Amino acid sequence: MTTRTAPTRTTPRVGTRLEIDTLIEDPETRIVVCCGSGGVGKTTTAAAIGLRAAERGRKVVVLTIDPARRLAQSMGLTELDNTPRVVKGVRGDGELQAMMLDMKRTFDEVVLAHAEPERAKAIMENPFYQSLSAGFAGTQEYMAMEKLGQLRAEDHWDLIVVDTPPSRSALDFLDAPSRLGSFLDGKVIRLLTAPAKVGGRSAMKFLNAGMGLITGTLGKIFGAQLLTDVQTFVSAMDSMFGGFRERADRTYELLKAPGTAFLVVAAPERDALREAAYFVDRLAADHMPLAGLVLNRVHTTGAPQLTAERALAAAEALEENGSPTSSAAAETVAAGLLRLHAERVQIMNRERRTRDRFVSVYPDVPIVEVAALPGDVHDLDGLRTVGDRLGSAVD
Ligand SMILES: Nc1ncnc2c1ncn2[C@@H]1O[C@H](COP(=O)(O)OP(=O)(O)O)[C@@H](O)[C@H]1O
Ligand SMILES: [Mg+2]
Repeated sequence: MTTRTAPTRTTPRVGTRLEIDTLIEDPETRIVVCCGSGGVGKTTTAAAIGLRAAERGRKVVVLTIDPARRLAQSMGLTELDNTPRVVKGVRGDGELQAMMLDMKRTFDEVVLAHAEPERAKAIMENPFYQSLSAGFAGTQEYMAMEKLGQLRAEDHWDLIVVDTPPSRSALDFLDAPSRLGSFLDGKVIRLLTAPAKVGGRSAMKFLNAGMGLITGTLGKIFGAQLLTDVQTFVSAMDSMFGGFRERADRTYELLKAPGTAFLVVAAPERDALREAAYFVDRLAADHMPLAGLVLNRVHTTGAPQLTAERALAAAEALEENGSPTSSAAAETVAAGLLRLHAERVQIMNRERRTRDRFVSVYPDVPIVEVAALPGDVHDLDGLRTVGDRLGSAVD
């Protein structure tokens, strides 16, 4: 346990700085996972870190989940084919590959890799399987884990940077493997696959009779077609049972391993930081290695010494009294700019207070701040700029 001292007004804690460059240059760092709530900049951060690490000589693959279309295009991600593609325009000797996760295709790949072609075909044509693979809650998170495991097993890259799905709940991402695992070896499914597992003629006969009874009843409730689908699906999946679970467990262990670093991404706003706190607690509870917090889209100003109060007072003075040396139009423009500056400084102050509150509760979580850029981040130059801010080039 760390002792927590109450924050004081006069000397807010600054927190430790998260040294991204040290992290990504360390050959021991093999996996970086960017997590956080939706819209805070996870995908941008993952891509920027991937590019920065590659331009510092590492062989990197970035697994993105939902890149904005223009960003995807600038990284050469035009096809949803689950294969890492080389990103063109990377400077230096490193290498950057990127891929977008296609959940359904990843699911299909698993089936194809673990079932005989005939069975694989039966599974993939099954409507139950199709709806499961496309929409089952948590499958996207699960598949991100599955893909991470695959990429790691290929052993081609020094560093894998993983973006995470825009989960509604902070817990989905870490819970997904066990949730899907327990669905797949849950009671109902064990029951449905029992005949295939038990074997032996009389047992089969007995169980099939039992199954007929059960399916008769359940069929009335759920509809016979759905049940037939489920049965086809699970009996075809039977040979693969345990496989999902085992791989999910292995990937989960991989996440806990020393070569993995989690970055929690958040905006400097109350709700986003509350979610971030949730992630930090959850990672700690699961013994996942947290590297730190990326505070993204922080407001900055070119004139930090001019306070909001002074800017507002100057704007009012200009509007009321005018200036002996300039025209009325110039005064209006100047007053407008002063007001804009005041507004920005007020936002900055609010963001700083929000950050300081987080720091006072989590003094040991290193933080790096990334300024809000004037526009969206949609090309390699934009990613490079974000990377510079993440690294030590700009403060
Ligand atoms: N530092 C930044 N400055 C300006 N725009 C940013 C910054 N970080 C992210 N964005 C923009 O914010 C939007 C959401 O970012 P994204 O990375 O897709 O978030 P997430 O993956 O968490 O949903 C994108 O349009 C992106 O270009
Ligand atoms: Mg995203």
